[in-house]
Amino acid sequence: MSSTHDKKVVLEIKDLYKAFGDNQVLNGFNMQLYEGENLVIMGRSGSGKSVMIKCLVGLMEADKGIISVMHHDITTLNQEALDVLRADIGFLFQGSALYDSMTVRENLEFPLRGHTKKNGKLIDTEKLVVEALENVGLANTIDMMPSELSGGMKRRVALARTLILQPKIILYDEPTSGLDPITAKEIIILMQDIQKKYNTSSLIITHDVDCARVISDRMILLIDGIDYAAGTFKELSNSKDPKIKAFFK
Ligand SMILES: Nc1ncnc2c1ncn2[C@@H]1O[C@H](COP(=O)(O)OP(=O)(O)OP(=O)(O)O)[C@@H](O)[C@H]1O
Ligand SMILES: [Mg+2]
Repeated sequence: MSSTHDKKVVLEIKDLYKAFGDNQVLNGFNMQLYEGENLVIMGRSGSGKSVMIKCLVGLMEADKGIISVMHHDITTLNQEALDVLRADIGFLFQGSALYDSMTVRENLEFPLRGHTKKNGKLIDTEKLVVEALENVGLANTIDMMPSELSGGMKRRVALARTLILQPKIILYDEPTSGLDPITAKEIIILMQDIQKKYNTSSLIITHDVDCARVISDRMILLIDGIDYAAGTFKELSNSKDPKIKAFFK
């Protein structure tokens, strides 16, 4: 197998800055996501993980820095080009964020609005919805309302919704938070299955050490607004640096 450095970079952040008034959240953060890898970003609560991911998908504007997707600097692209790139990126929000007034089917149809074709082929909505639900083992919930689902089921439906456009890159913001350890494990297994099935590249934000251990090929620690440390789970968990050690207790 080739070394990490020969792999294709699908997502890159260079020198990202973001402040809210006096609160300098990101202070020169860098990261690269390679094709086919699971990159875990860990950081304490309030360290700026969600802010970083929101800048990445354009839900928030960075103060400074370069964000590129498949080697395209997103600030230089027009709307049309951005939309094409966006279709390749799936984002699982922190919490499951299903639309409560819509059925599971309608929730899954939502990302398909405005997309009539994928990879040049006409979209068969019903087929995609059923397939996405089957991927998460919940085909039987298609006509249910979110209020009828457990927390773990909601998370899986949200994951199915993220997968429906078969993104090449998936961004997960705290995919296991608020779930019991067994359900969390099921979600992790699901994420691994999806990675294998579609060879997706994933950026996973978590402070769940078990999740990081199981799923990460590589990790970055976001501390003091920067990419303070990077390495494999093993390398980082063996570090002597107190700031790094604190994560693995
Ligand atoms: N829209 C906003 N306006 C002002 N401050 C914000 C806004 N969004 C985030 N912040 C601040 O930015 C900092 C980082 O928030 P962020 O949500 O990125 O943390 P996080 O690392 O995702 O934490 P958690 O692990 O709890 O999800 C916090 O101090 C937060 O108060
Ligand atoms: Mg967050």
